[in-house]
Amino acid sequence: MKYEVFATYDQMCRRAANLISAQIILKEDAVVGLATGSTPLGIYNTLADWYAKSDLDFSRVRTVNLDEYCGLPFEDPQSYHYFMQTNLFSKINIKPSNTHLPNGLAPDIREECKRYDALINSLGGIDIQLLGIGHNGHIGFNEPSDTFSKDTTHIQLTEDTIRANSRFFKSPSDVPRSALTMGMRSIMCSRKIILVANGKEKEEIIHQAMEGPITPRLPASILQLHPDTTVLFTIE
Ligand code: F6R
Repeated sequence: MKYEVFATYDQMCRRAANLISAQIILKEDAVVGLATGSTPLGIYNTLADWYAKSDLDFSRVRTVNLDEYCGLPFEDPQSYHYFMQTNLFSKINIKPSNTHLPNGLAPDIREECKRYDALINSLGGIDIQLLGIGHNGHIGFNEPSDTFSKDTTHIQLTEDTIRANSRFFKSPSDVPRSALTMGMRSIMCSRKIILVANGKEKEEIIHQAMEGPITPRLPASILQLHPDTTVLFTIE
């Protein structure tokens, strides 16, 4: 794993945006794996800026998101569909049909998990995957557990994650209790991975993920086995 530390959040976001744009310039129809949460916001703003300046073209890019809450309509401002639409897709020239997220409202959740894995395979896998990291070491919504989940899964969110994500909701009781998340196989088969984190409170978990034992109790630790992962960190 490569590790880069930045003095400011802006610098970290520019570096992540640079790595993503390099991939898109190299391969116009790249498959880009995307994350939500607060950390990628500056990256999406930077990509949208570069698109506005005609430095980037998303017309052939395909995207797959890591996760989505169960039970939230797409137009709910807390849904990840809404997040991606508002913070990135509406600001660039990506085709809506080229953007993909798991459907947390699917009537048959098991079928939806299978559909999502088949979709990622049909796109030829992920060229570059952007990840954040939870305080408990989750990536996507792959929560600490006894085993790594290989495939897209319906997951019960831990109390830690519900508490952390309640900052986006009116009250903790509004946070959905479950979500669909891409599994470790698709993440680990991504040809390149960028993990971004900011804030002093993420420093220890990043350190454990990079240097500690590889264990499903700290899902991000599996990235030690990936051949091309870059961790970008700032404590700003
Ligand atoms: C969301 C996701 C999560 C977040 C993580 C960190 O799509 O994949 O794993 O990346 O919870 O969230 P922030 O960036 O808000 O600290």
